[in-house]
Amino acid sequence: MGRFDGKVAIVTGAARGQGEAEARLLASEGAKVVLGDVLDDLGEAVAKDIGDAATYVHLDISNEEQWRNAIAVAQSMGQYRVLINNAAIIRPAAIEDTSTADYLSVIMVNQVGTFIGMRESIAPMRANGGGAIVNISSVDGMKGCNGLVSYNSSKWAVRGMTKTAALELGQHNIRVNSIHPGGVNTPMGNPMGDDSMVNMAFTHQALPRIGAPSEIAAAALFLASDDASYITGAELAVDGGWMAGRIVPELPGSGLSIAGVGYNA
Ligand SMILES: NC(=O)c1ccc[n+]([C@@H]2O[C@H](COP(=O)([O-])OP(=O)(O)OC[C@H]3O[C@@H](n4cnc5c(N)ncnc54)[C@H](O)[C@@H]3O)[C@@H](O)[C@H]2O)c1
Repeated sequence: MGRFDGKVAIVTGAARGQGEAEARLLASEGAKVVLGDVLDDLGEAVAKDIGDAATYVHLDISNEEQWRNAIAVAQSMGQYRVLINNAAIIRPAAIEDTSTADYLSVIMVNQVGTFIGMRESIAPMRANGGGAIVNISSVDGMKGCNGLVSYNSSKWAVRGMTKTAALELGQHNIRVNSIHPGGVNTPMGNPMGDDSMVNMAFTHQALPRIGAPSEIAAAALFLASDDASYITGAELAVDGGWMAGRIVPELPGSGLSIAGVGYNA
């Protein structure tokens, strides 16, 4: 028995990274999964590798028609009950160097795309007796970060709309929660793909390393599953302790040397 037996899930941005991990894990727990992405070759290959439980659709999440198509495909596979709103883009630039067009391009995908996905999923999930939506925000939806004005804005919006949706959709047995990953080892979180240096930026974090996509997927599946049946409107940081604060090497209990390199015995 899998936790998602008899359920159909849509995962956006499932061609790689966290979305791929979520799609694979959902299928391993009994779900039929629609993988949506704009990277068609990669997405097709992942779906093929998962097997009969998976179908790839081209889904640019900022496009309403493509959302309707993806949901129709999900409905044709059975009971559409789970949405992991995972896809996003990031365009680092200082505020002064961010054109309105660049700003809006990020908002259109991360914020508006997440909104459309939720809105279009309500009617079919209601008809199926309920569901669960997991919106992937970020630690950057809980704090600021220089160079990320468009991404920050979009991820705070995802966090906010999650709570509004939880309030509106509880009456229909649809739960809505957000996940706030810290650094995750994907093309977005480790764009150079350099695993030798990747943990250096996390020395002052409670768990001093980058996260794995599977660690975000495990949390997403928990919130999407009946194990979380009384959880809605919540925000879950899956961040190695990033949002808990920064370890101060100069103070007791840090476990760090003053130089911040290596650990005291
Ligand atoms: N990696 C990190 O360090 C990190 C940290 C915090 C939050 N996140 C969030 O986690 C989620 C997954 O990110 P990831 O690390 O796997 O990134 P990634 O870049 O590896 O994967 C994102 C996927 O989304 C797809 N995508 C981009 N635009 C799309 C669109 N318009 N429509 C459909 N798909 C689209 C991409 O093609 C890609 O397959 C994102 O919401 C991201 O903002 C990532």
